[in-house]
Amino acid sequence: MNSSIRYVNNTLYSDTTPLQEIAAQVGTPTYVYSLTRIIANLRHLQTAFAELRPHIHYSAKANANLAILRALIGAGAGVDAVSGGEIHRALAAGASPSEIVFAGVGKTPDEIRYAVEQGVGWFNIENRAECDLINDFAEDLGRDQIQVALRFNPEVTANTHPYIATGHGGAKFGLTAETITSILDRSAEYPHLNFSGIHIHIGSQLQDVEATRQAVQAALTLIAPYPNIRTINIGGGFPVAYTPNTDLPTAADFAAALRPLLRGYELILEPGRSIVADAGVLLTRVLYMKYQAGQAWAIVDGSMTELIRPALYKAHHEILPILKSETTNQRVSIAGPVCETADVLGRDVVISYVETGSLLAVMTTGAYGMVMSSNYNARPRPAEVVTDEQGWRIVRRRETWDDLISAEQA
Ligand code: LLP
Repeated sequence: MNSSIRYVNNTLYSDTTPLQEIAAQVGTPTYVYSLTRIIANLRHLQTAFAELRPHIHYSAKANANLAILRALIGAGAGVDAVSGGEIHRALAAGASPSEIVFAGVGKTPDEIRYAVEQGVGWFNIENRAECDLINDFAEDLGRDQIQVALRFNPEVTANTHPYIATGHGGAKFGLTAETITSILDRSAEYPHLNFSGIHIHIGSQLQDVEATRQAVQAALTLIAPYPNIRTINIGGGFPVAYTPNTDLPTAADFAAALRPLLRGYELILEPGRSIVADAGVLLTRVLYMKYQAGQAWAIVDGSMTELIRPALYKAHHEILPILKSETTNQRVSIAGPVCETADVLGRDVVISYVETGSLLAVMTTGAYGMVMSSNYNARPRPAEVVTDEQGWRIVRRRETWDDLISAEQA
């Protein structure tokens, strides 16, 4: 709950709009995002890091809806893109190519060529062979001096879910210190590359600042002999409270730990989750109630195809009624229609009385929700709506059954 998504007279709102109004007009399941909250989250990070004057490249992988990209770009953010598709989206939303960072452990030659053609501002490199590809395309296309940041695997273990830790030696991400040194010592072999940055991203939803501080320290030691490297990109990873009253490091805590190290360097941040997660909810409606084996189930129309985080990471999302009633609480598990036992959005949720037709909000789903959705069980993807102080609008229509077969031939 925050200043945008909160109860007013027992009705859950996003900015000035009661969520039941959106559910009534757009149907369910539907994602709703507060643009007001998204911009407030961007400003919050900028303020926390103000002394280091960071360049913030919003990580589109968290939520790549065009309206969200456009709002963030309009507010001054660049974009961190991880595929040709995300670059395409960022450009369609109005990003200037020079404000795009292209990252990714497995960029295809076609994606690299596209990014060079478009003139993206930075490449985060994860493989020696990428240097050759970028250099060759730059040569072919007559581009000079493309800014690149080598992604360093600092061999620190981030305190987070193992699926989203990326900075330990066993991970597929980044380059070892030896490889980075060997590339930098041969930088003359790549006349079209300007090796002016170093990149690290040790994981997402980081539970403490210490691993990040260690990783940045290790990166600074590594680049000390290379005075051309003046830009440090520390990736994303700032955590978000999925449960009320959790004790998590704030952006200001990260800034305070890094400030003494990073003075005099250009700083790039690639936040995703911390910008959009708490600005989003997934609206869903109870289809059926079911009581068996001593358990109460609410079967809802939202599922793991809209939000896979509970099934994939055992992630916890609060589930709240859109109309709070004064009735006593009950304990109910909330599950979707998909043919998988893992399709449970919340287990043993303590919630005020719900029944067939009740509207629920799955909270803090603005990040890694819609972007990870699927059409499994031939389920159309949900609609997406944004709110602000002026009201609300649909920014992606609900898919139809015809959309599901439109790319196929029998
Ligand atoms: N930069 C790089 C290189 C990344 O790999 C990521 C996230 C970010 C930035 C943005 O990190 P954030 O600020 O959002 O923590 N699907 C998972 C999260 C995967 C994160 C992948 N990389 C989840 O639902 O928790």
